[in-house]
Amino acid sequence: MGEQSSAAADWWRQAAVYQIYPRSFADGNGDGIGDLQGIISRIDYLAALGIDAVWLSPFYPSALADGGYDVDDYRDIDPRIGTLAEFDELTRLLHTAGIKLIIDIVPNHSSNRHRWFVEALESVPGSSARDRYIFRDGKGAHGELPPSDWQSVFGGSAWTRVPDGQWYLHLFAEEQPDLNWDNPDVHAEFLDTLEFWGDRGVDGFRIDVAHALKKDLPDELPDEATLLEGTFADGEHPIWDRDEVHQIYADWRKLFNRYSPPLTAVAEAWVPAHRRVRYASPEGLGQAFNFDLLRARFAVDEFRKIITENLDLAARSGASSTWVFSNHDVIRHATRYGLPAAEATGDFGPPAARDWLKAGAPPEQEDREAGSAKARAATLLALALPGSAYLYQGEELGLPEVGSIPADRRQDPTFFRTEGEEIGRDGCRVPLPWTAEGISFGFGAGPAHLPQPDWFAEYAVSVQAGDPQSTLELYRSALGLRHQLQTDEQLEWVDLGDPQVLAFRRPNGWLSVTNFTGTPVPLPDGELLISSAGASETSETSETDSADRHGLPGYATAWLQQ
Ligand code: NOJ
Ligand code: CA
Repeated sequence: MGEQSSAAADWWRQAAVYQIYPRSFADGNGDGIGDLQGIISRIDYLAALGIDAVWLSPFYPSALADGGYDVDDYRDIDPRIGTLAEFDELTRLLHTAGIKLIIDIVPNHSSNRHRWFVEALESVPGSSARDRYIFRDGKGAHGELPPSDWQSVFGGSAWTRVPDGQWYLHLFAEEQPDLNWDNPDVHAEFLDTLEFWGDRGVDGFRIDVAHALKKDLPDELPDEATLLEGTFADGEHPIWDRDEVHQIYADWRKLFNRYSPPLTAVAEAWVPAHRRVRYASPEGLGQAFNFDLLRARFAVDEFRKIITENLDLAARSGASSTWVFSNHDVIRHATRYGLPAAEATGDFGPPAARDWLKAGAPPEQEDREAGSAKARAATLLALALPGSAYLYQGEELGLPEVGSIPADRRQDPTFFRTEGEEIGRDGCRVPLPWTAEGISFGFGAGPAHLPQPDWFAEYAVSVQAGDPQSTLELYRSALGLRHQLQTDEQLEWVDLGDPQVLAFRRPNGWLSVTNFTGTPVPLPDGELLISSAGASETSETSETDSADRHGLPGYATAWLQQ
């Protein structure tokens, strides 16, 4: 491979990937639901932001039992979102703008409206149609009890009974029956699907629940307590992260490598750090999400440990690392960092933050200023790291979580399946504010499918664009500068003598310095390139509010050229 083509093949290694949740990005036809035309109309915005790739969350036909992660047809577009012709147009226009396209593949489960599941229900127990899913007879004298006491990730039983008495497994909502990956039809179907999109020109895939496809389900199933607390050797849990899952990805990799440059893939696998290596290996998917920063507090020791460990893991896998603070599943980081005692964290956001949402999101508990400062500092730090940065739509606006959504407007199955015990993920999926005015703040010509609060006006793109102090301009400048950092993937820690300050140098000589305390610290010599505390030109007005040669304000990151 020539130098140029190998560089092209490596485009993903340090890419800034911007996640679009299509139903909430931009609405082209005013029906309240974001769509492909909406995205097409915002390509200039994406290009000006300076991202390298877009990751589209599911756009497939779906009853939206789980925000589109319940897929009716893997090779089509939801008519409310667009058409295949529009998809092709979007791909072409993104490529013209120099932006790659990654799409979401959901292989662990289909929806219950998928033609296969409909066929399975029309077929008898034991039939080959049923074998594409995980059907079992129930327990009890008449099979009236589920095969096990397993709970779904969204709450409630993981089994649902069908009219003839059998039960099927769904790790998520009951509208999301788990596919049986021991069945060859399932393998063939997904290879065809990946090829279908590869041939249409997509550049890569994000693989949903990549760690659950292979299951080991004996006749006598272990109980829920054993699943949760049992000690299983690595790769031997009955459901999660079994070693055999990598056989699937080895086959996929062969397909990906038939394209030039090879298609990329990133695993969504909630597995212990050392287990990410195989998902991320070049013989497998090639990259895996590292959610460690997303789960961490804004604390210097946690950041240092996570960065060190993940750079090491990435090197061991042959991949580059990934850095993520926000996505469509968790409480936005501008809010997480603004809540008191956001200590231990869980998959859908720290319990303290979830409790805050449950309590009706009392505004007096949310320190928006601190949350914003820390989020900006954390993001600027991560953008200086080697590896890919995955950004979630709206974080470039510093958008906080929407805490108050009326129960009758909520959509997340988590909310319904836990009877409101868990508020769910709607608060980070509220359609974006593009303008300070308008029925849906410029999202579209009609009201948005999830209600937007009045305070969205102050976060609108139109309000922030051109304001050097805004979070939008911080992201634009940082993403622009970032391309100069990507000469190689080295990082050298620099000890500035203060344990609360994290600093590292990149091979181009740039130094990233983060102050994890709330009070200013001195900055080493060097030309200030950018600061999360504000643009340096405006720093004369207040020496403590903005980074300048005198120091770095509290909760801030600066990049220096030395
Ligand atoms: C992970 C996705 O990110 C989430 O949104 C979805 O609910 C589950 N997988 C199930 O598909
Ligand atoms: Ca629409």
